[in-house]
Amino acid sequence: MERTFAMIKPDGVSRGLTGEIIKRYEQKGLKIAALKMMNADKATVEEHYIEHKEKSFYGELLDYILSGPVVAMVIEGHSAITLVRKLNGATKVEDAQPGTIRGDFAASTTNNIVHSSDSIESAEREIKLWFK
Ligand code: CMP
Repeated sequence: MERTFAMIKPDGVSRGLTGEIIKRYEQKGLKIAALKMMNADKATVEEHYIEHKEKSFYGELLDYILSGPVVAMVIEGHSAITLVRKLNGATKVEDAQPGTIRGDFAASTTNNIVHSSDSIESAEREIKLWFK
């Protein structure tokens, strides 16, 4: 059994996609172990995206995540980290395949609807950060 962190970003929430996204995770057989809607604070978002601090899109990314409520989740299941990332689809908008959440709903690489952890280490770090 594995645990991962997933977040529905402000565009996913404001576009009314929360139910659709959660449905896709649950239909796959994954369990929502924790969930909260919140306005993220700047310090949490800065810490969450610390690996992108030097990237050109960092400022835009922070503004985007702080632009409205997000839904933070802990998702459990066999290979949860890989499965949630497959359901989410590729980060780059041009690479996100139809049938994935980003492929079906995202029209930009920054405003890409969802986030999920990319490794066991980041899952542990992100769950601790968002569910203090
Ligand atoms: P996420 O999976 O949350 O991880 C980092 C985020 O940075 C990513 O989703 C996008 O929202 C954003 N991002 C990644 N690459 C780029 C890019 N080249 N230009 C703009 N935003 C990006």
